[in-house]
Amino acid sequence: MSATRTLPENHNWRLQLWSWPEVECYLKHNKGVILPLGSTEQHGPTGAIGTDSLTADAIAQAVAERTGVLVAPPQPFGMAEHHLGFPGTISLQPSTLLALLQDVVISLVRHGFERIYVINGHGGNMATARAAFSQAHGRSASLGLASAPRLRCKLASWFLAPAVMSHARQLYGEREGQHATPSEIAVTLHLYPHLAEKLRPLPEPAPVGSIHGWEDFRRRYPDGRMGSDPSLATAAAGQQLVDRAVTALSEDLQRFLKAP
Ligand code: NI
Repeated sequence: MSATRTLPENHNWRLQLWSWPEVECYLKHNKGVILPLGSTEQHGPTGAIGTDSLTADAIAQAVAERTGVLVAPPQPFGMAEHHLGFPGTISLQPSTLLALLQDVVISLVRHGFERIYVINGHGGNMATARAAFSQAHGRSASLGLASAPRLRCKLASWFLAPAVMSHARQLYGEREGQHATPSEIAVTLHLYPHLAEKLRPLPEPAPVGSIHGWEDFRRRYPDGRMGSDPSLATAAAGQQLVDRAVTALSEDLQRFLKAP
């Protein structure tokens, strides 16, 4: 598989592997940082629990290699309260995630980071992440942090990039569904080919509909899927989706870094 892999394996841009003087030096010429944001939640009867974290982190590393932007440690837990009816799901309440993201952003701003680019793998994080950005703007200003006036935060959900969505539609049509989608599962197969062994034909999924808490979710979507057919996923399609996501997000990040 390694001949076809498009994802970096050298992890040159992982903050966790840098020393503080290296970060200090980086900040003299780049104020950007990527924060991968995932979730740890059920992905249907055959999908990996870590799908949203694994995909966000892998795409973030590839975007970093292409753009030369540092990547903060991936945040594996997200707002997945509605998935708690399924074993293995670990969720943060919205208020916890909001506080966590706010503290992460404030820590980074304190050292001079001014462009926080969140690469997100989970739709359930979006409202809370945006709320956290608002809080971080207010708090960094009230703390008098030197970089506060220049702070910009952006949420980039890789699965919503137009090039990714159109390719997923072309590959899977209606079978893409809304949760445990063949496109996100395909990306995990690209990253971890052995996950393909879990795939099997599945019965008709519950149709896409509303979400009201974990008990209702489990009743409406008994195997965890929302209108999707993850058995259609392939590692090759995963590679195509990653390529599109990395290109779209790298361009978006470069615009974001230059924007006033
Ligand atoms: Ni997901």
